[in-house]
Amino acid sequence: MNSDMVLKVKNISKNFGLTRALKEVSLNIEQGEIIGLIGENGSGKSTLSSIISGVYPATSGELELDGRPYKPVNTMDAQKQGISMITQEMGTLPGIRVADNIFLGKEQLFTKGGVVNRRKMFREAKKEMDKLEIDHIRPEDPIIKYSLEERKLIEVVRALYGSPKIFIVDETTTALSQHGRDIIYKIIRQFKNENKTVLFISHDLEELMRVCSRMIILRDGVLIARLKKEEFNEDKIKELMVGRKLTDDYYRSDYDGSFEKEIVLSARDLYMGKSLKGVSLNLHKGEILGIGGLTDCGMHELGKALFGIEKPMYGEVVLGNGEKVDSEKRAIKNRMGYVSKDRDQEALILSASIQENIVLPSLSKLRKGGLIFNRTEKRFTSRQVMDLNIKCREITQEVRDLSGGNKQKVVFGKWLGNESEIFILDCPTRGIDIGVKAFMYRLMYQLKKEGKSVIMISEELPELIGMSDRILIMRNGKIRGAFERTVNLNEAVLIKEMV
Ligand SMILES: Nc1ncnc2c1ncn2[C@@H]1O[C@H](COP(=O)(O)OP(=O)(O)O)[C@@H](O)[C@H]1O
Ligand SMILES: [Mg+2]
Repeated sequence: MNSDMVLKVKNISKNFGLTRALKEVSLNIEQGEIIGLIGENGSGKSTLSSIISGVYPATSGELELDGRPYKPVNTMDAQKQGISMITQEMGTLPGIRVADNIFLGKEQLFTKGGVVNRRKMFREAKKEMDKLEIDHIRPEDPIIKYSLEERKLIEVVRALYGSPKIFIVDETTTALSQHGRDIIYKIIRQFKNENKTVLFISHDLEELMRVCSRMIILRDGVLIARLKKEEFNEDKIKELMVGRKLTDDYYRSDYDGSFEKEIVLSARDLYMGKSLKGVSLNLHKGEILGIGGLTDCGMHELGKALFGIEKPMYGEVVLGNGEKVDSEKRAIKNRMGYVSKDRDQEALILSASIQENIVLPSLSKLRKGGLIFNRTEKRFTSRQVMDLNIKCREITQEVRDLSGGNKQKVVFGKWLGNESEIFILDCPTRGIDIGVKAFMYRLMYQLKKEGKSVIMISEELPELIGMSDRILIMRNGKIRGAFERTVNLNEAVLIKEMV
């Protein structure tokens, strides 16, 4: 027996109905390895990690752990055998305390004579959190007190309880701030030091190249390449992922940053808490207006204020026709659309179907004499699914099962279906693979050409530079600089205003 071998994946295939999510994937994972798993949306990364971590069984093939057959019956069983996973989706239960979430399913550890010793449980939870230097979360608090990011960290604490040998991180870092990411990186380093194993899934190629000792590339459910650290090469990896050579031309190629004079939306002197301190801007017909800055500069809140989700304490948002945007309802009525940075929590109803999500903003339009005919809805949805090339089994399928890129297309479908004229996009390409990203950029450009107006809030400078007619850079709740589209505009110039 090879004592270094931890996990053997042997000819694993997985079918979901007609979808062949994995095809004969084989992989040996050794101790002390930090393995990056990369591939376009829908290539099978989550399916593979879900099988390894006991979410569901494979259709065929086998797993071996430390030389013995490994067949986890559920995630708890997998964790008991030393494998645990965190995912992008929310994994904490809302109705209970922090500590209860950490020890979910392990309450018996603190139970004596049928009574749970809460004090002991809180103490233990505190100890586990201390290990990760998470000191601002209290075990006895109800979990709803905490933000998404903090809940994600609590999930991490739960996954690490019992010192797993293999830790799987499935696209979690994109949902975290720098601080949250740093905690994950630290855990990964710790795992490496303790000669344990991490399977790290991320769309951030740079991040993977930095952190991982080896990389596995999946394409359409097939493992197509295994790369050692010295073979890491960004272009090569991208090419392997998509199966063709990629040029850097997915941004628009023109430098003509012109748009019409007509103003379709203005913000006038917006003040809102600590996030906005006197922000004014004009959006024009046919303009792509980029807004950039560090994540806490106020730009995400600005997006919400522009769409009427959050109310400024002072100032107003006014449409070209003079109407004030004082609520989301009013925004939608005036053909505005908003793509939230937090897709799963705010932009989609995950437990509803593709159809239900897409028709939502257009219900009043589709409603004839108070009735909506399912046929009309179906046709309406199918049109968006076709136009946007949303990969799904059927339009009644729950949105939850779609890959990140396809989820985002559903969000766009909602607003395109409603014939929106103004699009507020907050990090529209976040956590999306390059194939869908390129598609989104083309779509944005096409909208511009059709005379629609787009505000793109983004943390990625290349896409701001690549797509915008104008860029506003924010810092500490204020607009610090405005930049026109030119060939010479570069990141350094923008960064100067950001920090
Ligand atoms: N629970 C499921 N039901 C049906 N199809 C699924 C399910 N989970 C994943 N799929 C499909 O399997 C394929 C691989 O998906 P996934 O493993 O989530 O990809 P990735 O994580 O690489 O984006 C996709 O075509 C996806 O639509
Ligand atoms: Mg996935």
